[in-house]
Amino acid sequence: MTVAGVVGLGTMGSGIVRLLARSGIIVRGYDPQPVAGDRLTDEGLASFTTTTSIEDCVHGADIVFEAVHETLEAKAPVLRSISAATNGVIASNTSTLMPSTMTGFVDRPERFLVAHFFNPPEIVPLVEVIPAPETSEEVKEQIMEILRHLGSTPVLLDREYPGFVANRLQAAILREALHLVEEGIVSPENLDEVVRTGLGPRWSVAGPIGVADLGGLDIFERVCAELFPRLSNASQPPEALTERVAEGDLGAKSGRGFYRHTKEADGEHFDQMAALFAQLRKGN
Ligand SMILES: NC(=O)c1ccc[n+]([C@@H]2O[C@H](COP(=O)([O-])OP(=O)(O)OC[C@H]3O[C@@H](n4cnc5c(N)ncnc54)[C@H](O)[C@@H]3O)[C@@H](O)[C@H]2O)c1
Repeated sequence: MTVAGVVGLGTMGSGIVRLLARSGIIVRGYDPQPVAGDRLTDEGLASFTTTTSIEDCVHGADIVFEAVHETLEAKAPVLRSISAATNGVIASNTSTLMPSTMTGFVDRPERFLVAHFFNPPEIVPLVEVIPAPETSEEVKEQIMEILRHLGSTPVLLDREYPGFVANRLQAAILREALHLVEEGIVSPENLDEVVRTGLGPRWSVAGPIGVADLGGLDIFERVCAELFPRLSNASQPPEALTERVAEGDLGAKSGRGFYRHTKEADGEHFDQMAALFAQLRKGN
């Protein structure tokens, strides 16, 4: 029986706990804010217990997921404590830090890697797995097997790269999308319509490279030759973002971003996404 530890029970750690517990894995969680563990306990997850120290959480665990705040100052001491208290595999959920930086805090770095889940982890199947240069083949295989057992879809990268894969793609698309909006070529509503009713569904079936293959690589060669020199190459966040952020228009969390938000409409969006992802999980 696999035993897992989850250190940090915020947005991501809680979701990882749910995912593990749902698959019958014994999970121990730790967060310095007891309310985080209590909330999960109240959900009645049968194989979950909350602990009062990192040591109790990770001792004897086969695998530990680290999901504390995204700063080296937060992660370094936590990784050192985890490393000292377990011989198990250590997987960080960092979105931006390089695995090769983090191995400095772990002894026996061959057991360390990044397992980058997406929010909410119990719904989105994708997990990017990024090895450090020292990560052993055995540990890579072990994490892939555990993640598949959870019903997730792990994608193993050959090596670390800033932003990994998904966040690079997301940033590249957002840069061009906001460039088109700022140039007055299209409204945010119509830009989203282009993706929702054309590009997005096609990508969700075949992916951007598969779409190019289906369309004909000679065509896409011409499209690239024509458009690459004309695409945005901005290296700073665009005013469409910085001005809204300065005004406190942060999107759903403040009630206004590019759109006005209501709890009901946003809830419907999340329900639709959850239904789509549930289908993807079933398809695996
Ligand atoms: N939120 C996302 O959409 C998302 C997506 C992918 C990856 N991530 C990554 O996941 C990690 C966690 O992000 P989050 O959004 O869950 O953050 P969060 O702020 O919701 O949760 C962080 C938790 O860590 C706890 N914590 C702080 N110090 C701790 C310690 N010493 N020991 C144990 N717990 C401690 C905090 O109390 C808090 O509950 C980050 O590395 C982030 O980059 C986040």
